[in-house]
Amino acid sequence: MTENFLLADEPRLFDRLEAQASDSLLALIGLAKADTRPEKIDVGVGVYRDAAGATPILRAVKAAEKVLIETQETKSYLGSEGDARFVELIKPIVFGGLGARSDRIVGVQTPGGCGALRLGAELIKAAGGNSRIFVGQPTWPNHVPLIGAAGVEFVAHPYYDKETRTVLFDEMIEALKGARAGDLVLVHGCCHNPTGADLSLNQWRELADLIAERGLLPYVDLAYQGLGNGLEDDAAGTRLVVEAAEQALVAQSCDKNFGLYRERTGALFIKASSAEQAQVAFGNLLGLARTMWSMPPDHGAAIVRTILETEELEADWRAELKEMLTRIRSLRARLAAYDERLAFIDEQNGMFSMLPLTPEAVVELRASHGIYMANSGRFNVAGLSDDNVDYFAAAVVAKLDG
Ligand SMILES: Cc1ncc(COP(=O)(O)O)c(C=O)c1O
Repeated sequence: MTENFLLADEPRLFDRLEAQASDSLLALIGLAKADTRPEKIDVGVGVYRDAAGATPILRAVKAAEKVLIETQETKSYLGSEGDARFVELIKPIVFGGLGARSDRIVGVQTPGGCGALRLGAELIKAAGGNSRIFVGQPTWPNHVPLIGAAGVEFVAHPYYDKETRTVLFDEMIEALKGARAGDLVLVHGCCHNPTGADLSLNQWRELADLIAERGLLPYVDLAYQGLGNGLEDDAAGTRLVVEAAEQALVAQSCDKNFGLYRERTGALFIKASSAEQAQVAFGNLLGLARTMWSMPPDHGAAIVRTILETEELEADWRAELKEMLTRIRSLRARLAAYDERLAFIDEQNGMFSMLPLTPEAVVELRASHGIYMANSGRFNVAGLSDDNVDYFAAAVVAKLDG
């Protein structure tokens, strides 16, 4: 009988598991929700919020969903590449003319930007070799577990100094000079998370030159295109490094710029050395996707495809994305105008900036003002409203004084 095989003092399988620390941002959302003060502000959570504090479903998304309900005739399986037409339509938005021209760039649909980042890491691993990935500090905390889980080795380098509020570009370039041909450079295409501090176009050019000269591969994480300075400007750096590099990866997400978050909508693009090699890479991506999610969820990509295939819906999506961007930019400008020590916020992009606050000051702001932000000082600009931006700025400035 089975029991006979169990040794009395041997722990059962799941009893061996160790407790994991809970996600601190999720815990923060819980704390903010439980706070009953009417003036409380949740700038911890990483989703766009409108002036009323809601994370809306975009008009074009609602309309596309109606079209899908009316016209979709099957829920039968798609292949591991997901919705190929979605990928084809997203490609020129990311790469511009280069994307339309190049048969060296191939892509597959993925479950969000996270899926794309992980699939890319699996491809790097599958290619063998001993490529390492250079990652600026700080970065989005999920980069390390997502990419590291595939077993790719990380090399950390400086990126941003929270105290002086500057990109440490020279230090970054110096560190990248230590990279070997075939090493990867993880870059945020725009709207750097958590700092909001992006490279200038000249810095992107310098980086592109170094990448070309040293045979490095850019691994671009493009999760916020359109929320920094517009769809074209936000892709400019990505296009420069991809064009300069012999080979590249771009992990793209539609979860923020189409407001699709839970629909898990994104794509991974690979630039290979030739059209033939690109097809080989594509075949590998399909094989790797099969081992993880087999095929990506359809609904979000079908929505994006429907929007981009329908002139009026695409125009409305672009208009609403611009409304979101305008709101973020105007809040940034308000914060910057409040006090010169907040002026840096208007030079940064996207939903996040990082305040030069100690974790203790962050906790004190929670207690004294009901302001909820990550311990690092990262806050979501879009979590503010015209009514509370001055209250927020005053509380933060008082802490900078203290
Ligand atoms: C920098 C960055 N990259 C990638 C992602 C992944 O986005 P998703 O998987 O929700 O599409 C996020 C999401 O917060 C992010 O902030």
